[in-house]
Amino acid sequence: MSYQCILLEREGCIARITLNRPDKLNALNSQLMDELYQAMDGLEQDENVRVVVITGGEKNFAAGADVTEVAQVKDSREGYEFACQRGRIYDKVYYFPQPVIAEVSGYALGGGCELALACDLRVASETARFGLPEITLGLLPGAGIQRLVRIVGPAAAKDMLFTGRQVGAEEALRIGLANKVVPADQLLAETQKLAEKLAGLPAYALKTIKTVVNKGTEIDLWTAVEMERQGFGLLFSTYDMREGVGAFLEKRKPQFQGK
Ligand code: COA
Repeated sequence: MSYQCILLEREGCIARITLNRPDKLNALNSQLMDELYQAMDGLEQDENVRVVVITGGEKNFAAGADVTEVAQVKDSREGYEFACQRGRIYDKVYYFPQPVIAEVSGYALGGGCELALACDLRVASETARFGLPEITLGLLPGAGIQRLVRIVGPAAAKDMLFTGRQVGAEEALRIGLANKVVPADQLLAETQKLAEKLAGLPAYALKTIKTVVNKGTEIDLWTAVEMERQGFGLLFSTYDMREGVGAFLEKRKPQFQGK
């Protein structure tokens, strides 16, 4: 499939999606979002994909929903549908079975910030600026508040949501919005290093951990703990678990096979 608004690259078991509307600071229009959904859907069918990196390239991650499209929304019903449609795409990223890393440089505003929040980990360049400026448009971020609250907590989330202010890389790191901050010229290499590290780990265990964390934050504690125990038990049936424990006992490097 050919894409106009994103680039999709594969190197071994790592996929890289680049948002590609640089002249519009990668503003997320419907075409780009549809293409992102299609790309994630295709990667999900491919068992060999272990890690996905989503990036906006060297300059900007994404400056939000395309405001020209937002301006065309006629009424509450269309506004609600707009949020549902965008939410479906962020959910596709959030529930992707294997880890998804956001590689963030420059602006990650509005929908761009929501997209980064839907990823599992955020590696930020020193140039990164996260923000949810919807309040300045008389709106709210319709597909990211709940994830923001769960990542940074209600107080930091309200600060960002009420003021719409931009949060720089160091502050993002401090409040837990970014997992790591690196110099701009090392962003790609550092993200790739992280992706390779994850790609070399037991894939089924990573997938199970992701499910336990994501689902576990959506349900009651008792059920979440029970799910965690069952996930722990399940992994005893995997080749990689036997290999990991065996290699430790034999004092050798494990050879994981993703099964
Ligand atoms: N939607 C549509 N177009 C956007 C956009 C968005 N969210 N963000 C940037 N653009 C476009 C600009 O219209 C401009 O296009 P043009 O050159 O055809 O006029 C181009 O991208 C460059 O943006 P510009 O505003 O000139 O860059 P800047 O460096 O002066 O300012 C921002 C950068 C990010 C501060 C500013 O673009 C901005 O505030 N964008 C909107 C952010 C926002 O409110 N997002 C949430 C939307 S719900």
